[in-house]
Amino acid sequence: MTIQKNNKRILTGIKPSGIPHIGNYLGAMKPTIDLQNTYQSFVFIADLHALTTIRNRQELLDNTQTVVLDFLALGLNPQKTTFFRQSEIPEHSELAWILSCITPTGLLDRAHAWKDALATEKKDPTVGLYTYPILMAADILLYQPDLVPVGKDQKQHVEIARDIADKFNHIYGDTFKLPQESTPENIATIIGTDGEKMSKSYNNTIQIFADESTIKKQIMSIKTDSTPVESPKDPDKDNIFKLYSHLASSDEIANLRDKYLAGGFGYGDAKKLLLNKFLEHFAEARQKRIELTKDLGYLEDVLKEGAQKARPEAQKTLNKVKQAIGLVF
Ligand code: TRP
Repeated sequence: MTIQKNNKRILTGIKPSGIPHIGNYLGAMKPTIDLQNTYQSFVFIADLHALTTIRNRQELLDNTQTVVLDFLALGLNPQKTTFFRQSEIPEHSELAWILSCITPTGLLDRAHAWKDALATEKKDPTVGLYTYPILMAADILLYQPDLVPVGKDQKQHVEIARDIADKFNHIYGDTFKLPQESTPENIATIIGTDGEKMSKSYNNTIQIFADESTIKKQIMSIKTDSTPVESPKDPDKDNIFKLYSHLASSDEIANLRDKYLAGGFGYGDAKKLLLNKFLEHFAEARQKRIELTKDLGYLEDVLKEGAQKARPEAQKTLNKVKQAIGLVF
């Protein structure tokens, strides 16, 4: 059965920042990829936003390539998703300037991400970090999306984009569709190997594309309680079981639950099961990524084609904006 796409448009941006783990995958990558089957989907790599943190040419190029490889390997289909690089569409930067001229500094002062940066960064925070939400507003408003799927940490930035759009519409007349964020409510927080939320910065991840021995090490290091092998165990209190549940079928999950409850089944055994399931689940993606790596020219082609599809959309909106504000006769 082919699923009919609706006419709703979604757009989201991904900051190119390193190696994906199963927390990224379940929380953000998979939901983003899945949307391509039902929505008109725009996904871009936010390389201009990455400039607020990356100041090394090779690192930026490598990270960008990594994101493209990861998404394509995990199933993003460039025929279904308009997949492009933000910096290839100059309209993003152009609209950002225009929007900055109607954005009150108070709106940016209230952004959590900016306040956190002020509180934690020792070095002088940059203007780019401060105006980050304006560029993000431009990213969004150029494509007039109905929904902007983001993680909880980016929700406020979409609200800011909506405020800016609303203000623009009030001053210059109806120009932008007011964007709405969608945050994945029913997606559980993925817990890392040490029992905290899985995050690169906690060094507690299980990486999808690492070599097998690394993945094995990461899975074997999952923290458990000290219930002895013989005793029954509570699956709902154990992270190995939780991780397994995200990857396995309902029969397999029920099976493992029984083993936990019966006793005589150790956490070491559970980890082996999880490792096998993990490798099985990502086998196709891991293989595909290896194939993709052999033809990096293809990645460039995908992004170029994506930009060719995206740019006319961006230009259409920017022209409308220029008309409205008096930059075009
Ligand atoms: N700021 C987002 C993040 O850090 C990435 C991003 C940039 C984005 N522009 C966007 C997300 C536009 C959604 C829409 O994850």
